[in-house]
This record gives sequence, structure tokens and C-alpha cells, in this order.
Amino acid sequence: MIEIEARLDELEQLGLTRRTRLVSGPQGPRVVLDGKPVLLLCSSNYLGLADHPAVREAAADAAMRWGVGAGGSRLVSGTMTIHRRLEERIAAFQRRQAALLFGSGYLASVGVVSALARPGDVVFSDEHNHAATVDGCRLSRADVFVYEHGDVEHLEWGLREAEGRGALIVTDGVFSLGGDVAPLPELVELAARYDVRLVVDEAHGLGTLGPGGRGAVAEAGCEDGVDVIVGSLGKALGSYGAYVACDQRMARYLTGAARSLIHSTAPSPPAVAGALAALSLLEEQPRRVEKLQSNAALLRAELSAAGFDVARDQRTPIVPLALGAPETAVRTCEKALERGVFAQPLLPPTVAAGTSQLRLAVMASHSKSELRDAARALTQAATAAGARPQERREAIPAPTSARAAAVVLDQDAPRARRAELWDDGEGELWVERRKAAPAEVSAAGGGGRPFDAELDGPPRPRAARDQSRADQARAGQAQGIFDVEAPGTLVEHAA
Ligand SMILES: Cc1ncc(COP(=O)(O)O)c(C=O)c1O
Repeated sequence: MIEIEARLDELEQLGLTRRTRLVSGPQGPRVVLDGKPVLLLCSSNYLGLADHPAVREAAADAAMRWGVGAGGSRLVSGTMTIHRRLEERIAAFQRRQAALLFGSGYLASVGVVSALARPGDVVFSDEHNHAATVDGCRLSRADVFVYEHGDVEHLEWGLREAEGRGALIVTDGVFSLGGDVAPLPELVELAARYDVRLVVDEAHGLGTLGPGGRGAVAEAGCEDGVDVIVGSLGKALGSYGAYVACDQRMARYLTGAARSLIHSTAPSPPAVAGALAALSLLEEQPRRVEKLQSNAALLRAELSAAGFDVARDQRTPIVPLALGAPETAVRTCEKALERGVFAQPLLPPTVAAGTSQLRLAVMASHSKSELRDAARALTQAATAAGARPQERREAIPAPTSARAAAVVLDQDAPRARRAELWDDGEGELWVERRKAAPAEVSAAGGGGRPFDAELDGPPRPRAARDQSRADQARAGQAQGIFDVEAPGTLVEHAA
């Protein structure tokens, strides 16, 4: 049995205790947090619709017209006219034959993944997928092959090894922690070639990317190649609930097979009506999406100028601020709060040890000057907390050729990690750090990460592949090189 007291003490010592903070009033770009006014920089209310007057009014009217609760699950008595109306609107918006409402994004992913795979099948899941997908995999009792984040080569190796047992590839469209986008065209191609389904969780893509905010799948022009899109109503649409968009046959199947739809109360009428109003605003005012994207670009540019390693080529509103040790991230959060900015730290086990961060999330309703001030406050906060963004960047030796590179890992990194560097052609050095178990870095490596029931099979010839990349790098032909032997050591550079 878990000793709660002992476990709490342990978490306390590791700096990993969590607590909820209290927001008074509605979810705007500024809120009162634990009694103090702050700029809100960690909300998924990306388009600022949660407190939009039209959305609030729609929800209030729905409460008067249909009541507050649906009173039952979708299959019993919980499907009301308002649910059907939103399903039709979502299907049209996502250009699919059908849509099916679920109680939340978590429930939708759990329900879809577990309905589309069964024991004996193999699900291929990106290692950065959201917990909802991970739990859907577990509920399916299928074997799970976790491919390295965004690594289509690794995925293809797994698909080949599965020898026809593959059931589906599942990925976030926009990854919730890093804000990066899945390699959707490649995933579509692999799904078609290996005859497996492709499910994309658009929780953070809806309203932030793509024509009219239709998501990462639409932005990549991959709508025809994706079998099921899962979207949350709780983020850019500012409400609560979720949907699945797919063809009619799939919707009929999921209606009878998705346990989280069958065994859970239907979303409440005010939440559904609020999402309907938000969807109308998104369709009528696509400039909200442009504003969101330009706000995100501004914050990235400001933080990058301050020395932070923020992925400037990304366009999503999620901006991770890497800080390393959990105490540094927690302290930075506190110091930022003192300066009137609220951004939530992400700590292990949500992120790998040594990669604690503040996950910043921009909203369309932030003003440019608020974001500039926030970048300044965050830089001061991180510096006061012991992080040295400018020095860290300066510590990276200038490349001696366009491809040459070197990296120092954080001294406090408790595990060996892999780093990739590349030059963007304009003398700008980008650094991306990724977690990796020491064995994977140093030796022949295995296929996939230990996680649930991994696909059995021979180890992937990772060392050979990485070796050839390193050789190419030395010859000045490859973009990235990385070799890490132990935390705190610096290893590679080629000229
Ligand atoms: C990628 C992803 N999928 C699903 C969810 C769950 O969605 P919801 O909050 O609607 O349950 C989240 C929420 O954080 C998410 O980030």
C-alpha cells in the first residue's frame, strides 16, 4: 500500500509537490490569482473565447432553455438537440461526414484509442503523446510501440517489425508540452503503406493552426489521410467537452464501442452552447488565429533575444522555456509571479528529469506590450532563480563551419541526454535537448522506450544509424551531431 505521508515527504524533498492556485473571476488575459492580479501566460484559452460576451451569453441562454446537466450518457437520455447541432457544425467545420461529442478531450482519446485496438494488435504512439492517449493505449490492452518523438524512421522500423499486427498510429497534432507539430505528411504516408489507421489529437491544433484554425492536419494538407481527428472544446473554443470527427461508419462504430462515451454523462448544454458560439466566432473572425500566431512569434522573438532556447521556427502558441532543474523552474515561477506574470512550471514526471520548464501559452487577447513586458519579467525571474539564459547561449562555442557544433549539458541533468544542434544558415545556433536513457545513447540501443507492453523484436540498429550521422557531420554533410556520455559532459563538434 502507498504510504501517503512518506510519499508526500519524498515529493517535497524533490521539489515536486503540486498545488492548485485559485483564479477569481473569469479566464481573461489577466486574472486575479490567489488574490493578486497577474498576466495569465499558461492558459489554453488561446483565442480568448472563454470569457467572450457572446460565448457567455450563449451558455447562459442554454442553461435557461435546456437546463444545466444532460442527465445521462449519450446512449441513454443525454443526447439533446444542442448536442446534435454542435456535432453537425463540427463535422462541417472539420470537413468530415460526422462528429461525435464526448465529455472531455481526455475521455475522447481514451475512448477512441481503446475502441480501435484490442489485445494482439499494436498501437504506435509518439513518446510525447498526451496522457489521454497513453491511458487509451493501456485500456485497449494492445501492445504499444512508443516511437521516439517525431521520429518517422523509428516508427517505420516498428511498423515493419509488427508484421501485420499494426492497428493504428496515434499522435498529437500539436504536442502539448513542446508546442511542436507532428510530421503529419510522413505519418499519413506510413499509415497508408502499412495499412494502419491514423488518429490525430488536435487538442492544441484546433483554433491555433491551419486555414480558418482547422488545425495542424488541415495546415499540413493531410485531411484525407487521417481517419479520426480528436478535438477538445476546452482549449481554443473556451468551453468544456470534446469531439471526434470522422466518417459516418467510424462514428457509428465509436458510438457503440467507445467506453468513455457509453459510460459517462454527456457534456452539459451550457458547455455545448458555449462551444457552438465560440465556433461561430472562429468562423466569422479568422483573424483571431492570425493574432494568436503573431503574438506567439513576438514572445518567441523576445525570449530568444534574451538568450533563451525557444524554437523560433514553431508557430504554435505553446512556448516552452527550458530551465533544467525542478527547483529552478519552481523558483522562476515564483519570481515571475512577484513580477505579475503567471506561467506554470512543468516538472517530472510530466517531463523528463532535468528538463523542467515553464510552459508558456500565448493568447490572442494578450496585447503586444503585455507580451514584451512578460518576456522581460520572465528573463529577470529566471536570472533571479539562478538560470543564466544569456550565459548558456554564450557558452555554446561558435561553430567553426556551418555544420560544426558543440553542446554542454546541464550540470544538474540527472540522466544523460541527447542534444541536437543545427545552424539555421544565418549564424543562429539552435539547440534542442531530448531525453534519452544512457543505454540508448551509448550502445546498440533497443526499439522503443520501456513503456507498457513494448513490441518484442530485435533491437533497432540505432548505433549504426547515429554513427553514420556523426560521420556525415564530421564530413560537414549532416545537420546534427550528438554524443553524450554522461551528464555534464560536453561531447561533439566537428569542423
Ligand atoms: C494533447 C491533449 N489531448 C487531450 C487533452 C485533454 O483534453 P481535455 O482537457 O478536454 O480533457 C489535453 C489537455 O491538456 C491535451 O493537451
